[in-house]
Amino acid sequence: MIDPGQVALGIVAGLLEARTGQTLTADRAWRVGTALTHVLRGNALGSLDDLVVRLADPAESRLAQQVVDALLNNETYFFRDRAMFDILAARTLPELQQRRAATRRLAIWSAGCSTGQEAYSLAMLIAAEPARWRGWAVDILATDVSPSMIASARQGSYTQFQIQRGLGALEMVSFFGETASGWRAAPALQRMIRFEPHNLLDAPPFPGRFDLILCRNVLLYFDRPTRARAFDRLAEALAPDGRLLLGAGETTVGQAQALAPIPGGYGLHGFAPMQERLRA
Ligand SMILES: C[S@@+](CC[C@H](N)C(=O)[O-])C[C@H]1O[C@@H](n2cnc3c(N)ncnc32)[C@H](O)[C@@H]1O
Repeated sequence: MIDPGQVALGIVAGLLEARTGQTLTADRAWRVGTALTHVLRGNALGSLDDLVVRLADPAESRLAQQVVDALLNNETYFFRDRAMFDILAARTLPELQQRRAATRRLAIWSAGCSTGQEAYSLAMLIAAEPARWRGWAVDILATDVSPSMIASARQGSYTQFQIQRGLGALEMVSFFGETASGWRAAPALQRMIRFEPHNLLDAPPFPGRFDLILCRNVLLYFDRPTRARAFDRLAEALAPDGRLLLGAGETTVGQAQALAPIPGGYGLHGFAPMQERLRA
């Protein structure tokens, strides 16, 4: 017999996959009910079955977006995996700066930026060294598939709990101002970043142009073929000598033809030499 609960779960999982490419694996499926509690309550729906009945109505696109947002994992914090940012500051950014000395332009993309902490961390790295970056145009684009995450990132407002996750007291007071409800990124920091909704599986915003891409803790929930498509998109976006930073424990090995880890790079990847690509 078909279990109606399983059918409803399948429909919700299908919606998430169609909109974001994210797969609802068995270990995440059991949490769907909890994740959707506030969506059900906020829309006066009694059960998952009631929800999928409403979702069948094409006019319910706002509800569909709420469901997708509730199922996405948006976990993030400032300077997540700090050692990676240390390497960016000490090695990667100076190297890229040398290579771009003629144009004095650098394009950085935070892909899957959630509520923006990763992009603000990058902006803080640049802003912390004004003498180094004087006369440079550093464009930071930060994107996420969820428009509500982008709205929140653009706002740049964080609770006391969020601001303390990853930031030291000096960073807090130098780059954020205290508000009635928490902390807000300083206007100068906000002006360094453009936040836009974008699905990583779509054509990249500026093909071949990014000197540095951070795509960390996003590809985890894609199945293998979808992850391979995402790597193709990232490769399309990267400048020929650019660098891609993945999350701790993420790799292109065995999953992407064009890109390979940089030896000793701690999550940094670049275009693989041609012979490696032919072997793959
Ligand atoms: C776990 S958070 C990681 C945030 C940040 N990169 C970090 O490492 O702290 C994953 C983010 O990826 C976003 N995401 C999921 N699928 C995506 C897709 N297909 N395109 C763009 N962003 C996506 C989610 O909305 C979520 O905000």
